Amino acid sequence: MKKFARIIGTGSYLPPKVVTNHDLEKMLDTNDEWIVARTGISERRIVEEEGTCDLALEASIKALEMANIDASELDLIILATTTPDKIFPATATMLQNRLGAKCPAFDMQAVCAGFIFAMTTAQQYIENGSAKKVLVVGSETMSKIVDWSDRSSAILFGDGAGAVVLSSDDETGILHSNIYSDGQYVSSLHVSNTRINEIGFIQMAGNEVFKIAVTRLSNSAKTTLRESNMTVDDLTWMVPHQANIRIITAVAKKINLPMEKVIITLSKHGNTSAASIPLALDVAVRDGRINKGDKLIFEGIGGGFSWGSLLVEF
Ligand code: UT7
Repeated sequence: MKKFARIIGTGSYLPPKVVTNHDLEKMLDTNDEWIVARTGISERRIVEEEGTCDLALEASIKALEMANIDASELDLIILATTTPDKIFPATATMLQNRLGAKCPAFDMQAVCAGFIFAMTTAQQYIENGSAKKVLVVGSETMSKIVDWSDRSSAILFGDGAGAVVLSSDDETGILHSNIYSDGQYVSSLHVSNTRINEIGFIQMAGNEVFKIAVTRLSNSAKTTLRESNMTVDDLTWMVPHQANIRIITAVAKKINLPMEKVIITLSKHGNTSAASIPLALDVAVRDGRINKGDKLIFEGIGGGFSWGSLLVEF
């Protein structure tokens, strides 16, 4: 009998410090009006003392509570992050220890598509019977790799974490997924260090990223729907990577999805990279918009480029 990877718990965590667009006006040649109009972002959270594992831990505890399972029952932990606390070991292993889990744990690096890649990986483990309970986390401290003197990128990013618990299910769960990479665009969006022990910051050709994101994400979503024998009318919600409201709107338009069916948290979170989809998901689950049986599409793109989409029955 086919096994599905079903979401049985969600959780999220944001560090307490709020940085508004007006705060950024004091540091950069920018203004609230420009940022809201061009990105849809009004504020973001930024860590002070906390690291990526600290944020991941809080989100994971909430997801495990909702799933009503103990960390010792987990068979696998996958942590999607671009901002690991150390070059090694994997931040996932530190999370495993702090949760009191005993299972294998590894990090996944696909930048803003990290959660899609991590969920797709977890899906394989559950569908082939190698794991029954998997914790998938997206956690980022993007503020540590932002160039705070670059107004074209510093205004975009925020810190936070989101987590889901997946459980093997006989009926439903992740219905289909597609992931892609195209490494010819590395220099369009990357961290500038060339050696591992040099400090580097995000460099981005924003306009180029924007155009490629819209095309690749809408094509990916269309493929995932077509390969699942579903249409956009079957979707209850799209939970997109929260990078720019104009990218999200353009993708929704290209696939003919009304914006009333799109979960948006960008205004308060900014772009939290691998954390943005599970953060948005948790917000909408806890405020009652997303319910059991809803059909959701997740989509995201990040540096590389790497991108993809995931169709889920909640
Ligand atoms: O998760 C994936 C990662 N990244 C993304 O998804 C980002 C994708 N790209 C974007 O979101 C957009 O390209 C940005 C928000 C980064 C920029 O928006 P844009 O509409 O593409 O603006 P632009 O780069 O074409 O710049 C337009 C103007 C320029 O001035 P001039 O040359 O027209 O005089 C910029 O210098 O806006 C200027 N500008 C700003 N002005 C005020 C750029 N950044 C700012 C700023 N405040 N923060």
